[in-house]
Amino acid sequence: MPREVYLETFGCQMNELDSELVGGQLRALGYRFTQNRDQADIVLYNTCSVREHAEQKVWSRLGELVERKKAEPSLVVGVLGCLAERDGTDLMRRMPVVDVMVGPGELDKLPALLDNAVKTRESMLAEGVDPGRGVPKSARLAALQGNTSRRSATLAAAADTLELLDLSRAVSPLDDTQGPQRSAYVRVTRGCNKFCTYCVVPFTRGAEVHRPPEHIIDECKKLADSGVIEITLLGQTVNHYRFEHGAAVTVNGFVQPQKGRSYSGGHRRDPFAGANVTTFADLLRRIHDEVPSILRLRFVTSYPRDFGDDVLEVIRDHPRICRYLHVPAQSGSNRMLAAMNRGYTVEEYTEFLDRARAHLHEPHKGRPCEISGDFIVGFPGETDEDFEATKALVRRARYKNAFIFKYSPRPGTVAFEKLPDDIPDAVKRRRNNELLALQGEISAEQARAYVGLEMPILVEGHSVRERKKQAAAGACGDAPRGISLTVNGASVEPAHGHGSACAIDDEPEPAPPQVPGVDVQLSGRTDTDMIVVFNAPARDVGAMVGTTMRVRILSATALALVGEAVVPNQ
Ligand code: 5AD
Ligand code: SF4
Repeated sequence: MPREVYLETFGCQMNELDSELVGGQLRALGYRFTQNRDQADIVLYNTCSVREHAEQKVWSRLGELVERKKAEPSLVVGVLGCLAERDGTDLMRRMPVVDVMVGPGELDKLPALLDNAVKTRESMLAEGVDPGRGVPKSARLAALQGNTSRRSATLAAAADTLELLDLSRAVSPLDDTQGPQRSAYVRVTRGCNKFCTYCVVPFTRGAEVHRPPEHIIDECKKLADSGVIEITLLGQTVNHYRFEHGAAVTVNGFVQPQKGRSYSGGHRRDPFAGANVTTFADLLRRIHDEVPSILRLRFVTSYPRDFGDDVLEVIRDHPRICRYLHVPAQSGSNRMLAAMNRGYTVEEYTEFLDRARAHLHEPHKGRPCEISGDFIVGFPGETDEDFEATKALVRRARYKNAFIFKYSPRPGTVAFEKLPDDIPDAVKRRRNNELLALQGEISAEQARAYVGLEMPILVEGHSVRERKKQAAAGACGDAPRGISLTVNGASVEPAHGHGSACAIDDEPEPAPPQVPGVDVQLSGRTDTDMIVVFNAPARDVGAMVGTTMRVRILSATALALVGEAVVPNQ
């Protein structure tokens, strides 16, 4: 009998992609997926541990399973991703409900571990042993990297097996509950070498490894052939991508990813660029030119120091590369940036902002550019003066939106070990709210600049308002499902996967006037990542979702732009 899996994803886009990949592997092996946790034989949580809050959500989800597991000892519970890697087998000791743990660097092992866990429990039940009471240690399974991913001898092996996970991607619509996939993530880089002092990612996701460009381009082509029109390239510091071909070796028949020769960023161009190196600029150009049916090529998240002019020029000169850059600043105070080990100053960051806009902000050609940022408030030692400096940077940067987080001390990081978490929570909260309010005003001003522009948007589906209206009227049955990136289960954090404090994305949208009974409100995005709502006749909705069409922007709020269709379906 096919086993039913419930898979819920927390945290970032990288996790959403991981869930999609493991979901594809499990489906190919005959597992079925359900949205209903209570019906599932296997419950999997793909977890995030960037902030304590994200971990707590997982703990409470696991707690909810304790009673059911007592009643149903054959239930298999798995914790995947960063929390598994960070907590290690300690998690199993603290939460006996967990049967399987797999770190983000070992996800290719999940099918084997699940199979093992399911069969062990079945045979124990057949023998009359209650596995809920006495699962032997050997029946609880973990695949974790520990810190091996940073040892050069094991780096190659880790990269090789992980590459297999990405290469295994099933692009056919295996999950017909999700509708046609029009938008997809493609990983270009794994791990991170920056070691910002507050961040767990270099520990949970391991050393930075760049995928071979051939693999990335092939994956983009396959996705495009299956109907995808928007690709978002993913990396923790995506614009740091560089692949050295000369040094490539083959392991098990696959081109082996190499750690790039050190290019410390900050330069205007990669001094080693040439025939043997594929830089990030080269990669963008190649995908744009070699996969023309991708109408939108985006990338997140960028690191401020790694933006050479070569990348900006490629974006400017290639019309299907989106003019949207997500470039976290984290603080506007040089003292805090140094304590965070961010590797740049506020002056260098603002120099980048000016350079990016000089290259890419061309509203007179109908091609504006938008930048969004991340900030951490209440980092150890942050004074009122430091916070004022952050506000000054937010005013200066004119972000489209910003993701603002209260500092959360993470065990194992330098900040956790060395810097006392000395900013009271009330102060963190006040700074968070103040920064959000300031960014809200700026978002509204940025949005107003769009009024009168005519732009193509990618139509994603019913707007939030329309979905609520239809849900209230009990009419969700015929609603278009929109563009979907997740396997199933809610992605708990908002669109960009970067947390709960986004100034725009989780708010309801404004309303253009509708013809009652005829129109519905749809929502789409410009290539600058601005949300646009507009009305369309209900009968045209099916044909519009997942296509690009031109809209004229009529009005704007901080939450969304309001537009009208100019020429449908172009
Ligand atoms: N506390 C608060 N925010 C954090 N981030 C990363 N680590 C922490 C932490 N320990 C934020 C940063 C990063 C985003 C993904 O999460 O702003 O850009
Ligand atoms: Fe974490 Fe810094 Fe790497 Fe981003 S660049 S993933 S914040 S260590």
